[in-house]
Amino acid sequence: MESKPSSLFIFAEEPVRIVVCESPEQVAKAAAQESIEYLGLACSGSGQKVEPIVLGLATGSTPLGLYEQWIERYRAGEISFRNAVSFNLDEYCGVAPDDVRSYHYFMQENLFKHVDFLPQNTHIPKTDCSDLPASAEAYEIAINQAGGIDLQILGIGTEGHIGFNELGSSLSSATRVKTLTAKTRQDNARFFESLEHVPRMAITMGLGTIMNARAILLLATGLHKAQTIRDTVEGPVTAMVPASILQFHPNATILLDQAAASKLAHLDYYLDSERNQRSL
Ligand code: GLP
Repeated sequence: MESKPSSLFIFAEEPVRIVVCESPEQVAKAAAQESIEYLGLACSGSGQKVEPIVLGLATGSTPLGLYEQWIERYRAGEISFRNAVSFNLDEYCGVAPDDVRSYHYFMQENLFKHVDFLPQNTHIPKTDCSDLPASAEAYEIAINQAGGIDLQILGIGTEGHIGFNELGSSLSSATRVKTLTAKTRQDNARFFESLEHVPRMAITMGLGTIMNARAILLLATGLHKAQTIRDTVEGPVTAMVPASILQFHPNATILLDQAAASKLAHLDYYLDSERNQRSL
């Protein structure tokens, strides 16, 4: 990845780099711009780079703005995913891929059908099978066979989960079957008929899988994420806040809107540091 142009993921001075934007729209635009530059997604006169790009993708409401930006830039003929391979973080168990509540459906509707990913290059954990642990293991192997993830996009759950790595997840876990917490099921009940219909398990990339990504871009917006972001960035590294493991990543950036950044105790310092780094 060293040879790819980069403006976002250039310094490892901080445990995690904090970038604050004015609004969720600005977060989406900044995430799109920086990921396009970093991954070399732009179509150039001589065609795209031949080196395949491996993207880790996320579901949830937060990355939707980023996906809209990518779609817009693709339609404008500026970028292409022809050369990209994708691995999604997670999928519910007991929800068929063509079910509107599945993450397969979510990705199809919100990104894949609008851009030029080759269908065989997009991957989401398979949960419509009889051997879930074997499916999870095969997914981890597939990521490694693809050469590992160049850039992992993340959202964050209100209890600090990334993917479906719920509190208490092993900090070095691989892709596996995970039981969802009551809070996660409540948070996600809005996508189902009722709480009872929310699945109890999912296959998720592990925290170790995520930490193996060469660069990480976590997006969070809204006041309801502010405490979680504070715990993630300024609290101790603990399995009780799984996203706090990112403090150990050498190349992790957290893009926030002002509301999500509002509880950071050292916000002024992060803003100062960011200004200084940009002036180098
Ligand atoms: C789900 C997903 C996570 C996502 C989280 C937050 O639990 N498994 O990957 O980060 O939701 O979603 P939202 O962005 O809607 O707050």
